[in-house]
Amino acid sequence: MMATKLAPGVYWVGAIDWNLREYHGYTLPGTTYNAYLVRGEKTALIDGAYHGFEGEVLGRIESVCNPGAIDYIVVNHIEMDHSGTLPAFVRRMPDVPIYCTGRAAAGLARHYDISGWKIHVVKSGDTLDLGGKTLTFLEAPMLHWPDSMFTYLVEDAILFPNDAFGQHVASAARFDDELGKDAAMAHAQKFFANLIIPLAPKVLKKLDEVGGLGIDIRMIAPSHGIVWRSYAGDILKAYTDWSRGVAKEKVTIVYDTMHGSTTMMARAIAEGIMAEGADVRVCLLRDGRYEGTHRSDIVTDILDSKAVIIGSPTLQDEVLPTVAGFLSYLRGLAPGRLTAKKIGCAFGSHGGMGGAVAQAEAALKAAGIEVIDGGFQVNYRPDGDELGRAYELGRRVVQEIRAR
Ligand code: FEO
Repeated sequence: MMATKLAPGVYWVGAIDWNLREYHGYTLPGTTYNAYLVRGEKTALIDGAYHGFEGEVLGRIESVCNPGAIDYIVVNHIEMDHSGTLPAFVRRMPDVPIYCTGRAAAGLARHYDISGWKIHVVKSGDTLDLGGKTLTFLEAPMLHWPDSMFTYLVEDAILFPNDAFGQHVASAARFDDELGKDAAMAHAQKFFANLIIPLAPKVLKKLDEVGGLGIDIRMIAPSHGIVWRSYAGDILKAYTDWSRGVAKEKVTIVYDTMHGSTTMMARAIAEGIMAEGADVRVCLLRDGRYEGTHRSDIVTDILDSKAVIIGSPTLQDEVLPTVAGFLSYLRGLAPGRLTAKKIGCAFGSHGGMGGAVAQAEAALKAAGIEVIDGGFQVNYRPDGDELGRAYELGRRVVQEIRAR
């Protein structure tokens, strides 16, 4: 096990979870749990990993120093993918103080038996002098848990923001320029789309607060994925843009179908969008004949789309279960909290009274998406005229995007 050097006296000592494929609702190609060692005259360990990765983290620490040399543990966030190794570390280093926020202290007590743990509560602006290395703490409540905190290493201008700016990816690359900028940004976009969207107003406020401190940030070392050293400015700008709702002239169509009628409509709408010269993603939800597109990839596309169109046939007066599940996920993410609002509409076929389209429109509104059209539904199979209307709907959505 080897550590990776970020700067003199600063090391990545995390764990690589090569096999993780699902993480509370989103698909991923593995991930990393990043822990960092900062060595001045004293030594601090920042964050940890999931339970089960204790040996890997300790092994990487041992490539730098004896774990007995650790003087402080900093817990930026208590979620178990970062704190799961803490009980084992405390057993091995029982006298080492744990620096965390008050909410983290309370939260740790709900997760573990912390009797005997030496917890030291910090607030924004508090510092820890390691002798030649200084850590400054900045509380970041609800980014993304109440306990969350950023730690800043003054001398090396490295920000340790825990989950913020992270990406779920497992690879040999430890740095953005090793993974490649496009891949790093794509993984970061998926992370933002699936975890950070509801927090967008808080992200903007925190970025303003960090900017107001006038500190230099040369490197951003999150708790998942690669460390931003060549593109730190790019990921900061991306977080600002994503939080503001900056998006492309792009439409994401999400749908499922029973006998192909809603597919015919989706394809006609997509043709209309393309005829206007805009970008479009057409995402079938269902698993079956086609594998379908996973909801976590769809919301990644929605993040940089200006419009979302939902399609579902009516089943027992309801949207199809796959569509219902997706709409529930979308409502939870609430893209309406992004500064710039998205627009949307709904469509589908039905054999009886219908009902799916109105439900989908209601869900879009609940997610903060402005519904711009009265809903488009057809009885059984769409005929030529109706496919023409679907095509015109696609064109109209793009025209509406451009009119704003
Ligand atoms: Fe990576 Fe909120 O845990």
